[in-house]
Amino acid sequence: MGILQVREIKKYFKQIKAVDNISFDINKGEILGLLGPNGAGKSTTISMISTLIKPDSGTILYQDKDIIKKPQAIQKKLGYVPQEIALYPNLNGRENLEFWGRAYGLNGKLLKQRIKEVSEIIGITERLGSKVDNYSGGMKRRLNIGAALLHKPELIIMDEPTVGIDPQSRKHILDTVLALNKEGMTVIYTSHYMEEVEYLCNTICIMDNGKIIAKGTKEELVGLINDEKQIHIKIDTINETLLQSIKDIEDVNDVTTHEDTIVVKVQKSKQVFKRIIDVLSQTSTEIHAVDIKEPNLEAVFLHLTGKALRD
Ligand SMILES: Nc1ncnc2c1ncn2[C@@H]1O[C@H](COP(=O)(O)OP(=O)(O)OP(=O)(O)O)[C@@H](O)[C@H]1O
Ligand SMILES: [Mg+2]
Repeated sequence: MGILQVREIKKYFKQIKAVDNISFDINKGEILGLLGPNGAGKSTTISMISTLIKPDSGTILYQDKDIIKKPQAIQKKLGYVPQEIALYPNLNGRENLEFWGRAYGLNGKLLKQRIKEVSEIIGITERLGSKVDNYSGGMKRRLNIGAALLHKPELIIMDEPTVGIDPQSRKHILDTVLALNKEGMTVIYTSHYMEEVEYLCNTICIMDNGKIIAKGTKEELVGLINDEKQIHIKIDTINETLLQSIKDIEDVNDVTTHEDTIVVKVQKSKQVFKRIIDVLSQTSTEIHAVDIKEPNLEAVFLHLTGKALRD
């Protein structure tokens, strides 16, 4: 049974069904991903877990305690990283951490020690003395995460912590999540970047319109879409005869073209790759590049909802 059990929670804002009867469990030491497009209900869901708002109905248990009735059963054990950056721009990094540390009841030597440790984890030690206003977007995001780590939470909830930042900071944040998890922290990570949840999460809940429309490991979710994969073959000149010969190969589902690339959809489990290459070499076609694309979560989302994950 999970350390956190979310059961049939609902939150409506007038006619908007922000969260519409969702349930899931998180095990200790797990990284759970909430993946969904804008307005899916991710922030509303984690606001209820973080006890910032109360559900209209349903229950949430943390370590078997009802946190809707007793928010203090989770509050001290939880680190919450909000989607909107919650920092004082006119204070420097250290002062911001001091503020958040005190809000969590830390002070004196312990607070100093934790600021030192956390700054190292998030990689901003050298910039602690600079005003946050002068930080890059990525550094602000990292400090926002640091603020939630000071009191050594058991569970950290991060709401789209990598939106709008440079690739280097993004990589740093993802690696920080993995490092924290390795030391035993349970993580809830929300994102609309499927690469991130694929990279980080043991279990992924795909959300849309306030509902969880699919839940499982990456492999289980990708398995929902019929085991199809795509082979992209870049060649010199595409002609109809060649396309027809590829279409005629058994287990080829579909053949389309995109500029000088032939896109072949095949059944994943079937070994058709060699037969395609045989056809190409028989016709003396010069191959410039071959790329085999495994199905991903983007394709799962498209399959389930008929729309793209990103606008
Ligand atoms: N306080 C509120 N009052 C009214 N409507 C709200 C409120 N908070 C959220 N909503 C609505 O509930 C729905 C879900 O919003 P939520 O912020 O949970 O989505 P999200 O998945 O976090 O989206 P995003 O990726 O854009 O952050 C949206 O339609 C949103 O407009
Ligand atoms: Mg949100």
